[in-house]
Amino acid sequence: MAMEIIPTGAVLGAEIRGVDLASPMDDTTFAAIDDAYNQHGVIFFRDQQITPPQQVAFTRRFGEIEYNIFSERWSVTGSPEIVVVSNITENGAPIGIKRAGENWHSDMCYTARPPRGTMLYALEVPDLSGLSLGDTEFASAAAAWDALPESLRSHIENRTAVFDFKGRKRAFPPKQSEIDRNPPVRHPIVRTHPHTGRKCLYVMRDDCTSIEGLEPAEADILIAALSDHIVKPAFIYRHQWRVGDVLMWDNCMVQHRAIQDYDMPLRRLMHRTTMGGSVPI
Ligand code: SIN
Repeated sequence: MAMEIIPTGAVLGAEIRGVDLASPMDDTTFAAIDDAYNQHGVIFFRDQQITPPQQVAFTRRFGEIEYNIFSERWSVTGSPEIVVVSNITENGAPIGIKRAGENWHSDMCYTARPPRGTMLYALEVPDLSGLSLGDTEFASAAAAWDALPESLRSHIENRTAVFDFKGRKRAFPPKQSEIDRNPPVRHPIVRTHPHTGRKCLYVMRDDCTSIEGLEPAEADILIAALSDHIVKPAFIYRHQWRVGDVLMWDNCMVQHRAIQDYDMPLRRLMHRTTMGGSVPI
């Protein structure tokens, strides 16, 4: 079956059909997928059945595997590259990170070299009598930049913000050693996408703690206004998961959040991999 790329109809996101991620993939097919990923910011493949090594190998084609603080706590046995994201508890212990990513964010923006992107493979999706719960929302920070008035663009274009690991409330309190390993970093608040050259807003509440050259009160207003602007309904694609989905998002062009509208006994289980990126410019 020939590969097809079907845009979601929102300003970002596309489904890719005609690809079996459990089979070997030639370089031409991979290049077309890589291009779709860069153009659409979110791509997904339905009805996949992949093993942990296959997920790791596919992720590696986009960039070296990145490890984060969740990997140390909840990885798949035999595949330390895969983080388990889940609300399931077995024998009194959580099998994965629960309530990950409830607030809008871009993964690991608090690092000097944030990841290129993140992949989730859906193994269990909460289902309420046929209604799928636990969606993930994605917002295009590129479309949000395009929609800004010129006067605001020129006010913010060459500015830098401080991104602080301690800023965001997490699903669990980080250890002091993790805080020490992640000192505050500086990134441009308008990034240039490394593959497409598109400008993308790179501002999030809580993670961005100040903007260089601005008084704290002015910076706070700007951080709040830009963070809200990025997640306006016009810039959003909401993914309703099905078991077997493999979905990946681009951490420069896209912010995301997980919708926490379910709990046990409704189970959600995802395998997550993260691919290395470049220093934001
Ligand atoms: C995340 O932010 O990595 C979690 C997203 C999700 O589980 O939907």
